[in-house]
Amino acid sequence: MREKYWEIPYNKLALQIEKLNKIYNDETKNIALDDISLNVPVGSIFGLLGPNGAGKSTLINIISGAVIKTSGRVVVWGLDIDTYRKQSKLAVGVVPQELNIDAFFTPKETLNLHSGMFNVPKGKWRTDELLELMDLTDKSETYSRKLSGGMRRRLLVAKAMVHSPPIVILDEPTAGVDVELRQKLWNYFKKLNELGVTIILTTHYLEEAEFLCDHIAIINKGRIIANETKKSLLSKSNQKVIFITLNNNKITEKDKNSIKNIGHVKIRKNKIEIYFNPKYTTMNKIIEIIYKTDLKILDLSTKNVSLEEVFINLIKDN
Ligand SMILES: Nc1ncnc2c1ncn2[C@@H]1O[C@H](COP(=O)(O)OP(=O)(O)OP(=O)(O)O)[C@@H](O)[C@H]1O
Ligand SMILES: [Mg+2]
Repeated sequence: MREKYWEIPYNKLALQIEKLNKIYNDETKNIALDDISLNVPVGSIFGLLGPNGAGKSTLINIISGAVIKTSGRVVVWGLDIDTYRKQSKLAVGVVPQELNIDAFFTPKETLNLHSGMFNVPKGKWRTDELLELMDLTDKSETYSRKLSGGMRRRLLVAKAMVHSPPIVILDEPTAGVDVELRQKLWNYFKKLNELGVTIILTTHYLEEAEFLCDHIAIINKGRIIANETKKSLLSKSNQKVIFITLNNNKITEKDKNSIKNIGHVKIRKNKIEIYFNPKYTTMNKIIEIIYKTDLKILDLSTKNVSLEEVFINLIKDN
């Protein structure tokens, strides 16, 4: 699908971002993006995770040309957006966060209209092919206002594809969608990716990133706080945590230093959390270290750390 129209950039990067900054020019002068750098490899499904207001939509709106950056460099499919404004816009199809559907058009009309808007020559319109791809053929003549939420979402994906961009950006593609439909949408996104389309998506759902993405970047308060392959991020979740409750609040510096030998330590009042990797630190060793301290232990338990906790801990620490 992609190969017909777009040559792969020489460095095999679908997107290159260097020291990108955005300050919205309103009274708050909030820094929405703070020196962001990241690369998205061609052919990947790249997940941008982060809490509300982290800067995810700002970032993708800059990539798609809807928001003007304050400074930094953005290269989309080998095209610097400052030098190749129009061409770089053609390299992306965006499915926005809001479901802005043309209620009085049928899916077929919507896609035809949109193809015309993108100046796709009539002989190359892909309306039928895209309706088929998104399983909407039997709804092609139904008014869009009669479509279900999931069908609308699929129509928006088809709409983002009319000009055959090599990159599709999905901003919260499954927000407010039930579990079953989410699974179905995930399969459509995978199918699109298998056809050669690089996908960048934002999400709050960690299972979504875990199922779909091969690369994950976590963004918090406008900064990138993690940027690695899913595999590497998941390996961090192969951690365990020990919860210790003390019967007083007394922890001496000496004890603090001892328990730091186990792993990453967090102390709040009489509660201690120690994150450790069982591959490197055995339970025997841990008990030995704790036994040698003067801690007055009321309760002790251990638990596996999930990707969700890795995420929450990263956000808390940054
Ligand atoms: N048009 C705008 N004018 C001024 N400030 C804005 C504008 N759009 C976003 N912001 C601010 O920029 C910051 C980042 O917002 P953004 O919408 O990029 O976050 P987000 O990660 O997409 O959040 P969400 O998960 O809620 O969609 C926020 O502080 C937000 O208030
Ligand atoms: Mg957003």
